[in-house]
Amino acid sequence: MGIECHRLTGTLGAEVTGVDLANPTDAMIDDLKKAWLDHKVLVIRDQHITTEEHIAFGRRFGELEVHPFATGKAGYPEIVKIKSTPESLIAASNWHSDVTWRQEPSMGSILRGIVIPPVGGDTSFACAGAAYRQLAADVREQIDDLHAIHDYSRVFGRGLSVEERAEKQKEYPPARHPVVRTHPETGERSIYTNRGFVSHIEGVDAEESRRLIGILERAIMSPSVQCRVQWEVDTFVMWDNRAVQHQASNDFWPETRHVERVTIIGDKPF
Ligand SMILES: [Fe+2]
Repeated sequence: MGIECHRLTGTLGAEVTGVDLANPTDAMIDDLKKAWLDHKVLVIRDQHITTEEHIAFGRRFGELEVHPFATGKAGYPEIVKIKSTPESLIAASNWHSDVTWRQEPSMGSILRGIVIPPVGGDTSFACAGAAYRQLAADVREQIDDLHAIHDYSRVFGRGLSVEERAEKQKEYPPARHPVVRTHPETGERSIYTNRGFVSHIEGVDAEESRRLIGILERAIMSPSVQCRVQWEVDTFVMWDNRAVQHQASNDFWPETRHVERVTIIGDKPF
């Protein structure tokens, strides 16, 4: 019995059945790797596994990162805990790909629903390759060889003192990545800028940089390149950060929403 993929939209995403994350066989992992490249976002429901098993599953796809700024889960440095409560609303409600401020950003993330609000808190995904192909030809031509500067401090620097910020800046200097990256496995070209982490596009003036970042963000925002996932407790969603962007819907407060992620290290975008 292999896995079965049920597509979410005409562009990307699939809900996968026939998966048991408590017993991840080599054949199942191989099937998931293929499906992941094909669909870019995989939704796997009703997986009642431990945190250790979540981490072990992530490791089948590569080395896991430890996020230097996000809240962790006690005893599990590889887990990023994203918990929003009545006291503190936390949701990544801007379009982005994970940790693009790293020199070698993430290849993929695997996020699990722990506490899910009765309604809302969906995560939307956009195919950054489809968004690129929908750009006007003259825009594609203009951006094809440009690079953008990604800086952690735009998002994670807010809580730091000036000294802490300078210290962390040495450890995590701004990263220079192509505006359009090529997927190392499929060869697909896709948009790789986001308003959160990108400070500017190199080689154009500030106004043109803002204009281009806006055009690229609007392309990502087009519903025709997206799919949307409704969470349940113990839903796992795995996405390819080299090929998609995502955004959490910030529409559930004051309900609690708690999700946990492992993040697989990738290579330098080209
Ligand atoms: Fe994210």
